[in-house]
Amino acid sequence: MTTDWTPRVLVTGAAQGIGRAIAELFASRGARTLLLDLNLPAPLEKALCLQGDVTSAADIGRAVQTAGEQWGGLDVLVNNAAYQGASGSLMDVPDDGWQRALDVNLTAPLRLSRACVPLMPPGSAVVNVASVQGLFAEQNNVAYTSSKAGLINLTRSMCLDLAPRGIRVNAVAPGAIATEDLLKSVGESSNPEQTRRDYEDLHALRRLGTPQEVAELVSFLASPAAAFITGVTVPIDGGMTASFMMAGRPV
Ligand SMILES: NC(=O)c1ccc[n+]([C@@H]2O[C@H](COP(=O)([O-])OP(=O)(O)OC[C@H]3O[C@@H](n4cnc5c(N)ncnc54)[C@H](O)[C@@H]3O)[C@@H](O)[C@H]2O)c1
Repeated sequence: MTTDWTPRVLVTGAAQGIGRAIAELFASRGARTLLLDLNLPAPLEKALCLQGDVTSAADIGRAVQTAGEQWGGLDVLVNNAAYQGASGSLMDVPDDGWQRALDVNLTAPLRLSRACVPLMPPGSAVVNVASVQGLFAEQNNVAYTSSKAGLINLTRSMCLDLAPRGIRVNAVAPGAIATEDLLKSVGESSNPEQTRRDYEDLHALRRLGTPQEVAELVSFLASPAAAFITGVTVPIDGGMTASFMMAGRPV
């Protein structure tokens, strides 16, 4: 991020994990940042924190109104919030889990982006947080993988629809990232060391990514340094998707 670029930024799902790291990075570089999450995000310097659900029209309205009233516009929208709770295969995923995954991971980015666009001047950017699981399928995870694949093509559609307004739209596709929740689930497995190694071995670099590494990529894609990049999904996966053999293994 250039030092003279101090954007007005809205990050969803910013109470923890990757979203928190994205908000912290922007805030640390002087951006005005609005954090929206189901759980009220902890205070952050020069940031506004809102509790709300990205699937709620009222909560979307409140976030957009706040950005408009406080800042008079918005330069960056990061659609990061996701529902990851609907595991299951084609044959057994519950209808409500499938629907919630689509609502949070695909429909909410569309609706929030649509609501934010009138506030976004030419030169603004949207970054959608997808997943390697949107680039490839995974057994017993039909809802999440389908929603993330949808988000990747929504990114392309939004790129085409918003290019005439001078707004760029890109996505990132992280591999396994060492968030609090991922490390907690590794710690709670029957053999934490082996489970962690299994995750690490999915990546050519043989390690987990960090939330800060994803935040750096999101910040770059949102910034004027990426002014000619739009409509792409950038894997940030330590080489996981470089090999069809790794991509075929369960994440
Ligand atoms: N952690 C990983 O390994 C990984 C890998 C690939 C992609 N991702 C993607 O990165 C993004 C962040 O993941 P994470 O691992 O940091 O997740 P996380 O579960 O640690 O944090 C997600 C945050 O989103 C919030 N949230 C969930 N539903 C919401 C809603 N309806 N409205 C508002 N806020 C909501 C949660 O309260 C939480 O604070 C997600 O889009 C996820 O799919 C994560």
